This record gives sequence, structure tokens and C-alpha cells, in this order.
Amino acid sequence: MRSIAILNQKGGVGKTTSAVNIAAALARADRRVLLIDLDPQAHASMHLGYELNDGEASVYDVLVSGASALEALRQIDDRLMLMPSHLDLVAAELELSGKDERETILARAVQPLYDELDFCILDCPPSLGLLAINALAASREVLIPLQPHFLALQGLGKLLQTVSLVRGALSEHLRVSGILFTMFETGTRLAQEVTRDVQQFIRDSSPEDAWHWARVFETHIRRNIKLAECPSFGQTIFDYAPGSNGAEDYMALAGEILAMIEPPPLPLAMAIAQLGMPDGPPPLPPVAEALATSEPEADGTPPEPESTPPDSPEVMAS
Ligand SMILES: Nc1ncnc2c1ncn2[C@@H]1O[C@H](COP(=O)(O)OP(=O)(O)OP(=O)(O)O)[C@@H](O)[C@H]1O
Ligand SMILES: [Mg+2]
Repeated sequence: MRSIAILNQKGGVGKTTSAVNIAAALARADRRVLLIDLDPQAHASMHLGYELNDGEASVYDVLVSGASALEALRQIDDRLMLMPSHLDLVAAELELSGKDERETILARAVQPLYDELDFCILDCPPSLGLLAINALAASREVLIPLQPHFLALQGLGKLLQTVSLVRGALSEHLRVSGILFTMFETGTRLAQEVTRDVQQFIRDSSPEDAWHWARVFETHIRRNIKLAECPSFGQTIFDYAPGSNGAEDYMALAGEILAMIEPPPLPLAMAIAQLGMPDGPPPLPPVAEALATSEPEADGTPPEPESTPPDSPEVMAS
């Protein structure tokens, strides 16, 4: 079972869109998937067309009222289950503040389900509070969605520091397994520059860092209006627009996730680094490598000028 927290404290970077459509793509690839909605906004639950009725248990009840994970599960289809969120979750951080072992409540609750699942995908809120920490403590992997704009890396240090703290204190196997570019504008110089900066950042890390083996996914999620439309119909991109770029991108991403190689355990990782592979982790995909070093077009023409106007939504979103 692989448990993957989709985390970035920055708002509107594509966490929920990615969590829902990755979960749906993996389910279509015949994997048993649980999607946990840990955001009080309950966007992932709505995206799957799920609305909680009065009295039904949600992730709030699991965290605060001692409900079992089983009580809060909803079957979406043959392969996909949802643990929905509720607005009450806003108060959970406060309500949990005096509770013992409050960081690992979710981890302990979902543990009995893990044998029945292939994947657990956790959609995190845009903050690094107790909800995100519960998500991290219940996960082995962190997937960070990034929108490639000029402030993309701002806040990444804090995020990685949180992952490291949780790894040190609660979950020794936790690691950043992937960085995903979302709302990608193919061909812009800015997107290439941010991709290169992220590659360099990972290369400069040391094997003990929780992000040293992170893969920068070859698949970029292109900006696609169908992805923005489908939540209001309560449908995943595969039901709403199966022929769209969005469906193609998330299916390709699921393929990459399924093909990912486990990083070596720490002592072996150190040995590999000492044997002269400090320049980058072996799982780094060749195309991403090429992207990282790609210069102007082969015919000598400079790359396209940066096409994102300063007042575009992606710049404003930060
Ligand atoms: N590839 C894309 N192309 C176009 N629109 C997108 C794409 N990905 C996400 N969106 C839209 O951008 C907005 C923000 O996406 P999303 O809700 O997934 O971000 P988030 O990180 O979960 O936000 P929050 O931090 O509020 O939870 C949504 O309206 C979503 O439909
Ligand atoms: Mg969200």
C-alpha cells in the first residue's frame, strides 16, 4: 500500500484537482484507492459529487469524536473510496489542541484499512497545521504540486522543513516522492526556468534530506479548462471529458506514479552518494534531465519570450 499526501500550503496550486484525478486514474488502472479529504473546504468530496448528509460520519468524526475509519468511508465506485470532509473540520485543530498523540490520530485510524488498499491519497488543506501533520504522519510519500510561476518556490523551504520534522518525530520513512507541475503553460521560458531551478534544488540536496529522491514528474499537467469545469459537475476529468488534455495528463501521471522506484534505505543511499553519484538520484527520468539542461532551440533561436502577463491569474494567485 502506498500512501501519498498531496501537500502545498500555498492555495490554489492544484492539490485537490490532482488528488481527485490521480485517485480516479489509479482506480481506473485497477488499483484499490482511498481518497481522504482533509480540507474543511471539502472540495475533493464535492469534486466527486459527494455531499454529506446530517449525522453521517466524516474525517472530522475520525479525528475528533473517535469514529472508526470504516464508519467514515463511502464507496464511490468499485475501486474508489472516499473519506469525506465537513466544514466542522475548521474547528478540529482547536478541538484537538489538548489531546494526547493528536498528530497521529488519522494514521492510527486508517492503519487497519491499509491491507485492503493499494493507494491512499490525502488531499491536504492550504496550511501546515495539525491537519497537514496528521496527513503526513499517515503517509509514506509527499507529492508537491507546484504552479510554475515566479513565486513557485517561495514557501517550499517551510514545507520541506515540516516534512523533515514529521519524518524525524513521527514517520521515519516519510519522503517527498514527487514534484508535479500544474497549470503548465508549455513553451514559456518561465516554466522552463522554474523546472530547472527545482531540478537543481533536488540535486543540491543530500541523501539524508527527505526530498533527495524526489522525482520531478515528466508529466506536466497543462492548463485545461475542462479540469476547471468538472468539479462543478461532481465528476472526475475521466467522466466529464475523457478525451481532454486534462484526462490525458492525469492518466500519464498515474502511469509514472505506478512505475516509480522505491529509493534505497538511508545507509545504502549514503553509500551510493559516496560512490560518486552525488549529482542526482538514479530514478530521475531522462526527459526531465534533458529539460533541466535544455537551452535555446537547436537552430539557435532563443526560447519563446515569457508569455505570462504580470496580472495573469497564476501570478495573482500567489
Ligand atoms: N490544470 C488546470 N487547468 C485549469 N484549471 C485548473 C487546473 N488545475 C486546477 N485548476 C483550477 O484551479 C483552481 C485551484 O485548483 P485546486 O482547487 O485543485 O487547488 P488547491 O491547491 O486544492 O486549492 P486550495 O489550496 O484552495 O485547496 C480550481 O478552480 C481548479 O478547478
Ligand atoms: Mg484544495
